Amino acid sequence: MVPAVSTTTARACANIALVKYWGKRDARLNLPAAGSLSLTLDALVTTTQVTFDPALADDELVLDGAPARPGELARTRAFLDLVRAAAAITTRARVVSKNEFPTASGLASSASGYAALAVAAAGAAGIALGPRALSILARQGSGSAARSLFGGFVRMHAGRADDGSDAFAEPLGSPLTTRVRMVIAVVGGGAPKTHGSRDAMEHTAATSPLYRAWLELVPRDLAAAEAALAAGDLAQLGAITEGNALAMHASALAARPAVVYWQPATLAALAEVRALRAGGHVAWATMDAGPHVKVLTTADDATGVAAAMRKVPGVTEVSISAAGGPATIVAAGAP
Ligand code: DP6
Repeated sequence: MVPAVSTTTARACANIALVKYWGKRDARLNLPAAGSLSLTLDALVTTTQVTFDPALADDELVLDGAPARPGELARTRAFLDLVRAAAAITTRARVVSKNEFPTASGLASSASGYAALAVAAAGAAGIALGPRALSILARQGSGSAARSLFGGFVRMHAGRADDGSDAFAEPLGSPLTTRVRMVIAVVGGGAPKTHGSRDAMEHTAATSPLYRAWLELVPRDLAAAEAALAAGDLAQLGAITEGNALAMHASALAARPAVVYWQPATLAALAEVRALRAGGHVAWATMDAGPHVKVLTTADDATGVAAAMRKVPGVTEVSISAAGGPATIVAAGAP
């Protein structure tokens, strides 16, 4: 039992995978089937305050100023149960979380959300966890959240242990960290409700004839991407990034029934990225579980790339991110 009310606020940046996580080896502990590699982004931030309060009868979750839906609350409650078990407490918590994302972007916030929640909840519960333990904790909320504990380029390890003790992320230094930018082109307008990444990756693993090939590809792409990062070779990193995203989507497209995230504007944006490259710009595309296109580019090229993406019909909003920093505690103590 936490004797008194205890509050911690943490912030974490979202990340975009350059080599994707798409499939699990264990759903209960949320262990990835393969490793992944991401870039943490400074423009996509979640700030989360966790307050353990003996007066609360149940956990509460407020997301962007509104009470969360029952499903979101249940997932947060299950995550808080992990923290309570580690801290040997039973106190309920109030969680207030706010996303600073491009407006109405529909971009996934579970990575920054569970990273900020892990840091804030561990802090408020009074358990001192190092970065690796926090990454393992965040992974149990959302696989991509394990990477958002760290800044810059981040490598997630699939691990082999049944208990998940070796499935964590760690930062990768690179001469490219300060040079890269990510241009986020939001594809909006009449979007049908898409499949959440959790269900869609499970469905792909269960039904796609291309899933096995996907799992064989990932270690090769990871090794090549790490070599490119070490050498500061952005053209090589970009080529792997775009190829890996297309391969992930190919595996999902081949699932039965198909998981199709793309809209016409997605394909138009991808064509624009190829045209930018043909015109001598640094521009490589990646896409996640939605129609939006994210373009890996440089600080020098970002403004031109963003201007070109703004002209693509169906692209409703464009923003530029630099590499973001690690998840941090921003306030602690009594509320
Ligand atoms: C396409 O991390 O959302 O963004 O672990 O089930 O919560 P869960 O999945 P999640 O999946 C992210 C999928 C992706 C690729 C990536 O970020 O690596």
